[in-house]
Amino acid sequence: MTEPLIELEDVGLVYRQNGHPLAALEGITFAIGPGESWAVIGPSGCGKTSLLFLLAGLRRSTSGQVRIGGQVLAGPRARTALILQDYGLFPWKNVYQNAALGLEIRGLGKKEQARAVLPILEELGLGEFLSSYPAQLSGGQRQRVAIARALALRPDILLMDEPFSALDALTREGLQELIRKIWQKQRLTMVLVTHSIEEAVYLGQKIVVLTPRPGRVVRVVENPEVGSAGFRHSEVFHRQCSLLRGLLAEAGSEG
Ligand SMILES: Nc1ncnc2c1ncn2[C@@H]1O[C@H](COP(=O)(O)OP(=O)(O)OP(=O)(O)O)[C@@H](O)[C@H]1O
Ligand SMILES: [Mg+2]
Repeated sequence: MTEPLIELEDVGLVYRQNGHPLAALEGITFAIGPGESWAVIGPSGCGKTSLLFLLAGLRRSTSGQVRIGGQVLAGPRARTALILQDYGLFPWKNVYQNAALGLEIRGLGKKEQARAVLPILEELGLGEFLSSYPAQLSGGQRQRVAIARALALRPDILLMDEPFSALDALTREGLQELIRKIWQKQRLTMVLVTHSIEEAVYLGQKIVVLTPRPGRVVRVVENPEVGSAGFRHSEVFHRQCSLLRGLLAEAGSEG
């Protein structure tokens, strides 16, 4: 077996709110292999965003351990990219500048930035919009700029927090398809947080189902058919969606 890239061992996270402890996550244990695509699903407030922040090294767990490549994660790492729900674009920067932002921050020269960013923007269908501003773009285009910015960093780990939830169904399916292709081509290790059952099943080879807060793992659902032709319209797809719906309902009524 290949070594896991990301490991969580009995991870717990307790926040403080108004002087009181608030348990967000409890006893989270799983291991993600390199190149695998995982989805995390659970009810609102169960700790999904918190879990991504732990994986990104933006927050420390209060118990247990997060390891990347066998090393305890002590802070953000260069090859982990995080795409947030609100896209995180700057309204006063145009498409090209927004996409190049991560490289700019890392101090890359203008030429290197262009060499990295332009082909990606082109591939994501944004070539004609380089000097447009976010306000002039559709939601789907904005999301693609955020994806371009993440990919420009040449990540080996791509973390996404409900990246498509603000989009209409068709745009959303198009972008899910795009992410699937990028994953298959670049062999990224992906963790996608979502509360859409269909999205989890479409993109996650493994799907972590969490309980209501404090989030605990109900089950890790194996979903090996991801990426097969016609998957979205297959019987297996619909069966997996029903399975998840059942697990989520059970977890919800338990607590
Ligand atoms: N910085 C913080 N300080 C204190 N409590 C926090 C903080 N961030 C989140 N929480 C609490 O932790 C819990 C989990 O929040 P989190 O944002 O991780 O949930 P989520 O599963 O992403 O929810 P949603 O699906 O609505 O995005 C919530 O009860 C929230 O109030
Ligand atoms: Mg969230």
